[in-house]
Amino acid sequence: MSKAELHIDGKKIELPIVEGSEEGKAIDISGIHARNGIITIDPGYSNTGSCKSAVAYVDGERGILNYRGYPIDQLARKSTFVETSFLLIYGHLPTADELSAFREKLVKNSLLHEDMLHFYDGYPTTAHPMGILSSMVCSLSSYYPDFLDPSNPEHVECLIPRVLSKIRTIAAFAYKKSIGQPVIYPCNSLDYCANFMNMMFAVPSEKYDIDPEIVKALNALLILHADNEQNCSTSTVRMVGSSDANLFASIAAGICALWGPKHGGANQKVVEMLQYIKDNNLNVKTLVAQAKDKNSGFRLMGFGHRVYKSYDPRAKVIKDMSRDLLAKLNRSDPLLDIAQELEAIALEDDYFIERKLYPNVDFYSGITYRAIGIPLNMFTVMFAIGRMPGWIAHWKEMHESSDNRIGRPRQVYTGSRVRDFVPIEQR
Ligand code: ACO
Repeated sequence: MSKAELHIDGKKIELPIVEGSEEGKAIDISGIHARNGIITIDPGYSNTGSCKSAVAYVDGERGILNYRGYPIDQLARKSTFVETSFLLIYGHLPTADELSAFREKLVKNSLLHEDMLHFYDGYPTTAHPMGILSSMVCSLSSYYPDFLDPSNPEHVECLIPRVLSKIRTIAAFAYKKSIGQPVIYPCNSLDYCANFMNMMFAVPSEKYDIDPEIVKALNALLILHADNEQNCSTSTVRMVGSSDANLFASIAAGICALWGPKHGGANQKVVEMLQYIKDNNLNVKTLVAQAKDKNSGFRLMGFGHRVYKSYDPRAKVIKDMSRDLLAKLNRSDPLLDIAQELEAIALEDDYFIERKLYPNVDFYSGITYRAIGIPLNMFTVMFAIGRMPGWIAHWKEMHESSDNRIGRPRQVYTGSRVRDFVPIEQR
């Protein structure tokens, strides 16, 4: 095995190199502090691998994302969200029997405890559904007190279908409550995505027809959101889970991390930005200029990524999908035209070229969610539903791993040197 060498104060430290199954090598620095009393520092962790993982592979330079080895575009075209969830969580494509057993578990676990419905009454109708989603998911832990041990595979197996199934119900109920409509209970004869659409848009007083094109698009969108290795929310789920916090608590934390506009919250911000351009009849070039001006505090939402330094492979699929879906539904969306114009201008601009800033997953996803009929403040919730199998897979993988240790980074202290306490009357 090759080694790296580090020279500090005339001392040579040999460090092992860890090689992945695809491209990618890492210098194992884990023993440096114990042996030499020195740490490494890497704010934002751009150069730090936090774990070894077999869930997803990203090649940011070439724009590749594979789940368990399967390319994302193949899964988006050929799989369903439930099948892809199984793949991510259990590591292989399910057989027909495995898939039907997994589906059955999701079907059987879609209801919420009736008492949970009262929780919604405590939120103002203006509450952001991401806050509700996170608290409700965390609250689920109260209903399974005997199944919260992360090291017990039976407990974990009990909770996986529950959280994956109930997240849809929690999300749809939050929406119904916010608009004052009665909640629509899950329907066991509908598949995962159709069931969600029914809970979101059916009303008891009339029949709701579910458009199969919309269900297909929703499946693909959720698949494309299902994992992206050690992103901010997944790392949060792993970090919280590393203290042996239960699955619900760990995922609730991941939902909060996803909410931020630099992460999953960008899908809502992109559509708000496009709407702002349209409502104010703005020249797209003005906005691009503003995004380049560091003093403006404005960034082009849906552009740039920590890892993808070429076109985000998810954005590529979603862009085509949004166009196809609108055509199939015989609709147009002026925001799609603005988005395409914005993309064309940004991709020819030196500022974006030099920094390798391309559209990310969030740039076109909001437009597709609009076409499906999802309200703006629910966009990031959709992302959270999609990301659920990835969070579960990483949490499970971490607990099954032999190098699972509590996540606890260090720091370089830059505060005051030691000093004596001063009584208040002498300050
Ligand atoms: N608009 C304008 N400039 C940008 C943008 C953008 N969207 N993104 C990055 N930059 C610039 C930065 O100002 C910086 O310029 P500098 O080198 O002159 O200082 C350079 O590009 C590198 O940016 P960083 O912030 O260092 O990159 P980082 O990897 O830390 O951030 C992030 C990545 C947060 C995604 C960033 O690109 C961003 O804020 N994008 C907009 C928000 C967004 O779309 N988030 C969703 C990401 S996908 C996801 O999480 C699901």
